[in-house]
Amino acid sequence: MAKIIRDLKLANKTVLIRCDFNVPFKGEVISDDNRIQAALPTVKFALDAGAKVVLFSHLGKVKHKGTEEEVAADKAKNNMIIVFRRLAEILGKDKVFFSPETSGDEVNKRVAALKPGQVLLLQNTRYEKGEEKNDPALSEKWASFADVFVMDAFGSAHRAHASTVGVPELLKARGKEVALGFLVEKEVEALGRVVHVAKKDRPYIAVIGGFKVSDKIKVIETLLQKCDKVLIGGAMAYTFQVAQGKNIGISPFEPDQVDFAKKCLATAGDKILLPVDAVVTDAFQNWTKKVTTTGSDIPDGFEGMDIGPKTQKLFAKELSKAKMIFWNGPMGVFEQKDFEAGTRAVCEAVSKLKGAFTVIGGGDSAAAVAQFGYKEYFSHVSTGGGASLEMIENDGHLPGIDVIK
Ligand code: 3PG
Repeated sequence: MAKIIRDLKLANKTVLIRCDFNVPFKGEVISDDNRIQAALPTVKFALDAGAKVVLFSHLGKVKHKGTEEEVAADKAKNNMIIVFRRLAEILGKDKVFFSPETSGDEVNKRVAALKPGQVLLLQNTRYEKGEEKNDPALSEKWASFADVFVMDAFGSAHRAHASTVGVPELLKARGKEVALGFLVEKEVEALGRVVHVAKKDRPYIAVIGGFKVSDKIKVIETLLQKCDKVLIGGAMAYTFQVAQGKNIGISPFEPDQVDFAKKCLATAGDKILLPVDAVVTDAFQNWTKKVTTTGSDIPDGFEGMDIGPKTQKLFAKELSKAKMIFWNGPMGVFEQKDFEAGTRAVCEAVSKLKGAFTVIGGGDSAAAVAQFGYKEYFSHVSTGGGASLEMIENDGHLPGIDVIK
């Protein structure tokens, strides 16, 4: 069992906390600060316990390829200062400090100057070339000033990087304490339940949507073994419908995944439920004609944009029987009002359930429930898209969490 931050004595210690502050933003404006809010219980606990708190996280992607100017532009685009400003607003400007550097002498000086009850946020970990390579020299720089390491970045726990795996490995080897934060504790508990399925949680139904089958092959295979029903919507349904010999018009599908879809349909049989109708248009953008099909075939020259009303009813009826639901991926192009009904229908069906355990595996479906105002109806909305899917695929294991155990 892993230790949790509440098990540790933190007074006067320098506590290095890996958060996932990879928030969505445009320019300098954060469009959803959920990941910052989700980190607060752990950060506040450490502050109240009298720790000197150092936070670090990645933000966006920094490629470290191309010319110096290109790398510099990538860094400028993904500057952690936007997170610092939000954190300072929440925790108080007198408590939170920013280090424009990621590691090295300047960081060491700033850490040494920290007082108990203060927070230092480091610059984006991906400014460092060694971060994604789990470079031991970089891990050493971060580990050198930490008395304690806390892993609270659930959304990054599937990445074996220097900040998620290298640092805790080094500290553990030196007999220093490492622990999970409250956010990761909550995520592990909720996702653990959809991975290790108890009898009382059946029928267990998965709803899988989104664009590509190829992104979710392993999770589909795993869920077909674990669940009583798997409802498939979104653009990925078209690949399954091609495998069934249906007409999908000009809808996108993945030719190289048709055999996989055929295999799933042959082995899982009626465990898989596919759309029986669709809302379709004559183009993805600037469409001029929108119709609802009467069956699952999509006419030539048309493209599926959402599941249709019959499918919404069919899916809602199945979901009404569920004791546990795992949902990842929208049913249609929910960002546009004309094609939000399918995704909204899944939210509505879940909102009517009494006593079922319902989990959203991050990503677009988490954004959709927030947009439609259904978040409170779900037992757990994960902060990690990729991480929650990998946790299901890997029977509850993620490198950034396993290293703490
Ligand atoms: C996420 O947003 O899924 C996590 O922060 C991980 O980000 P990454 O895919 O860039 O590693």
